[in-house]
Amino acid sequence: MDKLIIEGGVRLKGSVRISGSKNAALPILAATILTDEVCVIRNVPNLRDVHLMLRILRTLGAQAEFKKGVVTACSKRLKSYTAPYNLVSKMRASFCVLGPLLARFNKAKVSLPGGCIIGVRPVDLHIKGLKRLNADITVSGGYVHARSDELKGGHIYLGGEFGSSVLATANVLMAAVRAKGTTIIENAACEPEVVDLANFLNKMGAEIEGAGTPAIEIKGVKALKGVEHKVIPDRIEAGTFMTAGAITGGNIVITGIIHKHLSALIDKLEEIGVILERTDSSLRIKAGRNLKPANITTLPYPGFPTDMQAQFMSLLSIIPGVSVITEKIYPDRFMHVAELNRMGAHIQKEGPHAIIAGVKYLSGAPVMASDLRASAALVVAALAAGGKTEVSRVYHIDRGYENIEKKLEALGAKILRIKEN
Ligand code: UD1
Repeated sequence: MDKLIIEGGVRLKGSVRISGSKNAALPILAATILTDEVCVIRNVPNLRDVHLMLRILRTLGAQAEFKKGVVTACSKRLKSYTAPYNLVSKMRASFCVLGPLLARFNKAKVSLPGGCIIGVRPVDLHIKGLKRLNADITVSGGYVHARSDELKGGHIYLGGEFGSSVLATANVLMAAVRAKGTTIIENAACEPEVVDLANFLNKMGAEIEGAGTPAIEIKGVKALKGVEHKVIPDRIEAGTFMTAGAITGGNIVITGIIHKHLSALIDKLEEIGVILERTDSSLRIKAGRNLKPANITTLPYPGFPTDMQAQFMSLLSIIPGVSVITEKIYPDRFMHVAELNRMGAHIQKEGPHAIIAGVKYLSGAPVMASDLRASAALVVAALAAGGKTEVSRVYHIDRGYENIEKKLEALGAKILRIKEN
């Protein structure tokens, strides 16, 4: 297992280009199942999760190759409708092959993804949505078995205890595009990744309106065609670099971004006192002099993203005063608290809240990554900490950040990957 060794205390400087969005690319790759024709997807990040999705597509019988950020996929010879446990259990997003497989074969067998370190993560909304499209769904032996004589459009309310669901919206969307008649999804997720998926499906010939709002209308079509598509930039990678720039008192420019996807993050950083300057597709981040504490509540888009909660906690941990973070999407997503405290932070978890008493400085320590965004938070903290931090289990970070150490190194960070078997 690789480790990252980071010597903190360097102010980051320079410019960094943001990669394609992991969370947009994964459902789009799953959507290639919906056509016999070749799809070419550009700006796909070179990540473990992406390669896992490609493996799943190949296991189903598709051809899928990745070359320099471009995936060429063809599902003409798809032969299997089963996504097995050994692959689905490794990545929750692989569950979003359920909708397209059902649309393609009128049946699908997909392993339950299981829980993960950030919480229970049920799939009831996926199942409820697909049932409303006239699918029979049973769960047995750890698998979801879906079957339908004919998928039919329906009226679906897709909200749960914690609001809308990104991947449930994606799953229902991908089944509904080939269902007979019209489907309305209410309380659909509004995340930009859902919009990117809908844009991809519309290029393929689907008739989807309202993506990006809580009400999506889908008129089913008989067939979809192969198309080319460029994946949107990764707003969470962008946000992670924004916090890295701010915590090191640096002066960096992030390029290749879509500003409006970053509004909640920009607003919070400005409240904290970070100086942000925008041009058309870039954003300069300069740390101000007197940073102020802030309260953050994670919410579905356009609210503050749960995937940026941990990285902001690192930043707030060295801002004088008391900050409170409330996690409304995954109330248990606080595995990074103990690790940040090992670096000298003063953070107390109280139910779904983290109370952060800002300290003057963090100090380097051996720490352990527990999940993707928590590991990003440890790297962000390490960049500002005095001395050396050793982040182990960095395979988590490789799931979601393309070339993170190279990109940080180019900004001046002292960071080194140690390969371990
Ligand atoms: C996606 C993102 C993930 C992000 C999350 C929330 C991908 C590949 N992953 O995950 O990075 O953290 O959105 O923005 O896009 N829920 C249910 N029942 C369900 C489904 C979800 O109760 O059937 C709950 C979840 O437990 C959670 C909330 O709904 O509390 C939102 O989860 P959801 O949007 O579904 O997350 P994912 O789509 O899995």
